[in-house]
Amino acid sequence: MEEIRVSAAEDKVTIYQDLIPQLESLVEGEENFIANAANISAALKQSLRHASWVGFYFLSGEELVLGPFQGKVACTRIKIGAGVCGTSFKDNKTLIVPNVYEFPGHIFCDADSKSEIVVPLVNDRTPFGVLDLDSMSYSSFDSVDSVNLAKVAEIVAECFSRRSQRVNGS
Ligand code: SME
Repeated sequence: MEEIRVSAAEDKVTIYQDLIPQLESLVEGEENFIANAANISAALKQSLRHASWVGFYFLSGEELVLGPFQGKVACTRIKIGAGVCGTSFKDNKTLIVPNVYEFPGHIFCDADSKSEIVVPLVNDRTPFGVLDLDSMSYSSFDSVDSVNLAKVAEIVAECFSRRSQRVNGS
């Protein structure tokens, strides 16, 4: 049975330190990308108590399409350059939004969302999606999140590249 040990720590640095090696183990030996992305979103949501929604959007044609996530039902398609996700993807840059009401064009999936962080996913210098976290509180995300979620994005990219190498990538 796959499971993770949720950190009892209160501080985010320790929570991420406990979590990241477990994410690496969780995806080891599994080549199905969707299965790995689904478990990573679940492990992040279980561990990061400051996040109300954790999930992926992946590039599909000209837009980002909802991937595996944990949380409330969300919008399925986001145009490149639109909202926090589309802007992060277009600029290939992590965006920390302390107050979503102050981000021009923010897309509300959940009326209770107050702050957000979006981290681009890049494989071999090609962007292929974003990792998105929302919070019900203002200013929930900071540089501790951006540094550690960049490490999570690397794990996701590694899973994506393994998937890409398969001829009939299932
Ligand atoms: N708020 C995001 C949309 C996705 S949801 O938060 C899950 C945005 O502005 O891109």
